[in-house]
Amino acid sequence: MDSYAEGLRQAISSRGAKVAVVGLGYVGLPLATEIAGAGFDVRGIERDPERTARINRGESYIADVPSERLRRVVEAGRLSAQESFQAVDGSDVVVICVPTPLDRNRNPDVQYIVNVMQQILPHVHAGQMVILESTSYPGTLEELVLSPVANAGHTVGEEVFLAFSSERIDPGNITYHLKDVPKVVGGVTPTCTELACLFYQMALGCVTHAVSSPSVAEMSKLIENTFRSVNVSLINELSQLCDRMGVDIWEAIGAAKTKPFGFTAFYPGPGVGGHCIPIDPVYLSWRAKQFGFTPRFIDLATEVNEGMPNYVVAQAMEALNTQGKAMKDSSVLVLGVAYKKDVSDVRESAALRVIELMQERGAKVQYHDSFVPEIRVGADRLRSVPLAPETLRSTDLVVITTDHSDVDYALVVRHAPLIYDTRNATRDFHGPNVWRLGAPPSTGVPEKHRQQIPAPAYAGSKSPRKQ
Ligand SMILES: NC(=O)c1ccc[n+]([C@@H]2O[C@H](COP(=O)([O-])OP(=O)(O)OC[C@H]3O[C@@H](n4cnc5c(N)ncnc54)[C@H](O)[C@@H]3O)[C@@H](O)[C@H]2O)c1
Repeated sequence: MDSYAEGLRQAISSRGAKVAVVGLGYVGLPLATEIAGAGFDVRGIERDPERTARINRGESYIADVPSERLRRVVEAGRLSAQESFQAVDGSDVVVICVPTPLDRNRNPDVQYIVNVMQQILPHVHAGQMVILESTSYPGTLEELVLSPVANAGHTVGEEVFLAFSSERIDPGNITYHLKDVPKVVGGVTPTCTELACLFYQMALGCVTHAVSSPSVAEMSKLIENTFRSVNVSLINELSQLCDRMGVDIWEAIGAAKTKPFGFTAFYPGPGVGGHCIPIDPVYLSWRAKQFGFTPRFIDLATEVNEGMPNYVVAQAMEALNTQGKAMKDSSVLVLGVAYKKDVSDVRESAALRVIELMQERGAKVQYHDSFVPEIRVGADRLRSVPLAPETLRSTDLVVITTDHSDVDYALVVRHAPLIYDTRNATRDFHGPNVWRLGAPPSTGVPEKHRQQIPAPAYAGSKSPRKQ
């Protein structure tokens, strides 16, 4: 019986194992390219025919995968892409990297995993390992992968091996690549865990961290991203307090982070975006409620972060008001629509919500983002406009929603009549026309437009009133 495990162990150790990667997006394409680069024969399964055609031509559509690298493995015959699941038949290892978004009601939508499992199942055979990398709630692997495989009559841990290992990439991060981040691996049995660890060591050359079950591995990913969501929401809320108090939050964070221990810097912004931080905590919260548990921190963090676009638009209206203008009929240039700097991903981007809210208030909105040539906001399609002095001069307001590195912020401050900066991108170029989230208006903005500082409750008495 152990011969299936031994066969797979040998195939992985010699890099002779054939690998199928299902879903070639932000996670799957870098992974498939890396595994092929390590010498494995990789078949990518992708339902989008345009993507499969581009991969087979060696043309990358993911910024973190240079076309040159992709072309090298494609031309060497180590990576090819197809729509058909037939490739699962001849594969020893199958890695699933399909999306796990939210549905219309903002509940987990696991239909992509369910769908892939239905397509894979007829091809699953003894001696094969299936690894799920899609982020989801604890219990997903057991419910959506283990159950159908076991029900199809396979003995898991002896014939077929199953594990969960979350992807932890940070798109656009040039310091940490796939191989630099340890892989957390939780298999259904100890043999499943051992084989999956061996696979990642051989395929990515990374450190692996084995845990006792798939649920622990699934939970670890959600802890990472919930930690981020909660901390970002705290700092987003404090940015609103700093606006009231006339204290510069950016300077305060810079001071706090001089402490060499016990503090991690998070920064405010127009809201969270991407396929992880706005979504993953919701998966955990949804699952928690099935256990009769309301995770208050998670839900509050989501509420604060989702409220940021409204706050930013309200502050932008304040800024326009100081110039005697209303949002209605003002021309607004939004700088940066990707969810974070130096990437092209607009999924869940707060900038899109900011644009939508300003349009609802009658603003005429244009945007500039060299990473994102076109966006859809509601029924409208907008195209990125060039960032020229005349464009800046002819707008009433520039709202900086993403601090891409390729923008000349000095130029923006020099020519735009009014700027609302949610990222502190203009930190080196303060001017009377610059408002920043979580910071007092720059010198030049009349004092009367600052928030009134409320008198402390104990004003007039000698000591703070005791509650
Ligand atoms: N993007 C990130 O930074 C990131 C980081 C860590 C984890 N994750 C997680 O990884 C998973 C994948 O995310 P992503 O950002 O790569 O998504 P993505 O949308 O970029 O890529 C998913 C790909 O899967 C394909 N696909 C969907 N259904 C398919 C099917 N039935 N058969 C074949 N292909 C199919 C899509 O066409 C798409 O190309 C998600 O669970 C996500 O939460 C993402």
